Amino acid sequence: MENGVRPAESMRCFCFSRRHRLFLLLVLGVVLFVYCTNIRDMGSEWNSKEWMKNHSMKLLTVFGKHSTVSKNTGFTGLPDGNTTAELPEATSVTTTQEPPTRRVTKETLETQNGRRRTAAPYVSPGPYLVEYPYEYHFTINEELKCKQEKPFVVLIVQVAPRNRAHRDVIRSSWGSEKLVNNQVVALFFLLGMQTGDDAEQVHQQLLQESKEHQDLIQGDFVDCYKNLTIKTMVMLEWLNSCCSSAAYAMKIDSDMFLNVPNLVNLLLKAPRTNYMTGLVAHEGAVLRDPNSKWFLPQDIFNESIYPPYALGLGYILSLDLTTKLIEASRHIRPFYIEDVYLGLCMRHLGISPTEPPSYSFHVFPLSYNRCQYSRIIATTCPQNVDRVWIWRDFKRPGPHC
Ligand SMILES: *[C@@H]1O[C@H](CO)[C@@H](O)[C@H](O)[C@H]1NC(C)=O
Ligand SMILES: *[C@@H]1O[C@H](CO)[C@@H](O)[C@H](O)[C@H]1NC(C)=O
Repeated sequence: MENGVRPAESMRCFCFSRRHRLFLLLVLGVVLFVYCTNIRDMGSEWNSKEWMKNHSMKLLTVFGKHSTVSKNTGFTGLPDGNTTAELPEATSVTTTQEPPTRRVTKETLETQNGRRRTAAPYVSPGPYLVEYPYEYHFTINEELKCKQEKPFVVLIVQVAPRNRAHRDVIRSSWGSEKLVNNQVVALFFLLGMQTGDDAEQVHQQLLQESKEHQDLIQGDFVDCYKNLTIKTMVMLEWLNSCCSSAAYAMKIDSDMFLNVPNLVNLLLKAPRTNYMTGLVAHEGAVLRDPNSKWFLPQDIFNESIYPPYALGLGYILSLDLTTKLIEASRHIRPFYIEDVYLGLCMRHLGISPTEPPSYSFHVFPLSYNRCQYSRIIATTCPQNVDRVWIWRDFKRPGPHC
């Protein structure tokens, strides 16, 4: 009897494991439910938090096979509470609204420009392709700023029109670094058009904000998640025509922390041409599940693995690449996944993205620590922290480590 299990005990064991199994099932159910709900909820702004919350699945697919990527880029797995369900709500300030029909937009545009043509009936490119190339116009612009300031690097933050809060945080944190290591750094926010009932009101507010800060650029395409590729291509066109004398540009999401001195120091040693870097994804699987947020049908892209591409949360390119990428885009049908799309354009050019220094880019938020933050270039900001406070603490005098 010594070694045997007493009936009461085995009973308890049985009950426990059954409850345990039930509990696991319940958790699984919740995870699935939240995941499916999030897929349907397509936010109108691309931001990394949103991205993380909804789509850590893509990352897992992208990085699953590549431990080298993790090692070199500080991709160290999911943050605490590593299920999709447990990541907290994103605090996106934007809402999704039905865009006006393209026909109306086009006609209005043509009338405005005095270039009346009989508009051809509008044919939608479908849900996976975007309307590009197309001659978009700027409704708010800073055409001369680069010519006057002659920046070494231009930072472009892609942000939704309504999201002034994020812009203000950036202006009073890393966006305030204008001269680093004797190099001029310029900062711009790139937006599309707000749609919906309050579109006109938002536009008036933007005009006011632009007067105050002279750092807004707005293109006349509908600002929404599915149009990010348009935003990025318009960014390249803008850099090419307004900032071509700069050496580098960096596209960065609005919820990132950027260590500007480390960025500048990296770029002072970097190649001046054919250079693109960031968190590079290798052998990312093309998602063929129609329920996935990044679903791409075979007839749009028929390979099963994406070429290497720098993740959209923050990537750097030498300015010579702007014309080259625009040219390349004429050969590849633009679909809605912007970072992957640039990866395809890079492959068309025969240029591979460069691996960044190890530990320099972080997609999963690195919790704030003066020493750690002094060694990185960019990280997604942890949620619910005062980003201006972090900045002030980071910049206070004294050794970082
Ligand atoms: C993307 O922008 C274009 C141009 O403004 C617009 O016609 C299209 O409807 C937008 N796409 C979505 C999904 O709103
Ligand atoms: C993919 O499409 C290209 C061009 O249309 C074609 O040449 C190629 O054979 C296709 N590959 C596959 C795997 O279907």
